[in-house]
Amino acid sequence: MQLTITKSDILKPKPDDSNLGFGSIFTDHMFNMDYNPENGWHNPRIEPYAPIEMDPATAVLHYGQAVFEGLKAYKTDSGAVRFFRPKDNFRRLNRSSRMLCIPEFDEEFVFDVMKQLIALEKDWIPGAPETSLYIRPTIIATDHFLGVRASYTYRFFVILSPVGAYYSEGFNPVKIWVTKNHVRAVRGGIGEAKTAGNYAASLYAGEEANKNGYTQVLWLDGVHQKYIEEVGSMNIFFVIEDELVTPMLNGSILPGITRDSVITMAKKWDVRVSERQISIDELIDAHESGKLQEIFGTGTAAVISPVGEMKYGDRVITIGGGKVGPMANRLYQVITDIQYGRTEDAMGWIEEV
Ligand code: COI
Repeated sequence: MQLTITKSDILKPKPDDSNLGFGSIFTDHMFNMDYNPENGWHNPRIEPYAPIEMDPATAVLHYGQAVFEGLKAYKTDSGAVRFFRPKDNFRRLNRSSRMLCIPEFDEEFVFDVMKQLIALEKDWIPGAPETSLYIRPTIIATDHFLGVRASYTYRFFVILSPVGAYYSEGFNPVKIWVTKNHVRAVRGGIGEAKTAGNYAASLYAGEEANKNGYTQVLWLDGVHQKYIEEVGSMNIFFVIEDELVTPMLNGSILPGITRDSVITMAKKWDVRVSERQISIDELIDAHESGKLQEIFGTGTAAVISPVGEMKYGDRVITIGGGKVGPMANRLYQVITDIQYGRTEDAMGWIEEV
């Protein structure tokens, strides 16, 4: 496939690196590619960032047949540009696609194109501490048809957004709200896919948590509403008697790349790690007996998000005195040091542009 590149005549002014927030500023160019059954994936092109015009009957608008990814390009002090485990994101995008009946794409080709897009937009990669260029590859169903079936045609696009911290708290403890009224996903559904509907399913409980002064929802499983699954849009970890515990991947939990990095790193440090079912009652008991030391979320956007307070029914518990715990702190430092090239990448997680 031959990539075409059309450069924008007008370049937007670059934002102030010190006040980026998350996900509201977009660069000058984007990647687009189309799919139909006759030609497969075709017409790959880098072109000026522009709206996607859609017929009101476009399938994705009605039935949410969409998958996406989130990864980042980082600038090091020497000005080099690098990615953190990018091929895992493209592998997961194809995995999500399979679950949503979307045709797979050539991961090597798209990775190569993304590198070209980042090279073209390199002046958009912010340099202020803990900032990066967030990369959002997305695939949407584009048939104009209201019957419920998998679309025959698709659009693959990649947009780029210079970002700072995902949460206004930055790397500071957030407050989480355990919901028993709502579930995010169930086993056998699409909970382990990175797909639009899972995020739509999280909104109502998220608003409820926010109204009550909490930042994120702690999700329990969809069958018993007993076992812990995720927090907000992140995977979740606990430190209980010096052991790192995280819910095992059971079909309704997203297989996070930061989750995997945390597990790998902790094992390398000889920390005991357990991927298993953990119930909310076990967590409360661990807190009452003084065994629960830390809770934190993991994800590409926030990296590590420590939890300082949790509300479950009428109980409010404070974790680690409401401060960032040593495990969360050590993991955050080492992962961000690898990402920004402040330490050697002994794990082979970095790809240079
Ligand atoms: C992440 O932590 O990377 C996420 O999934 C959040 C994203 C949907 C903004």
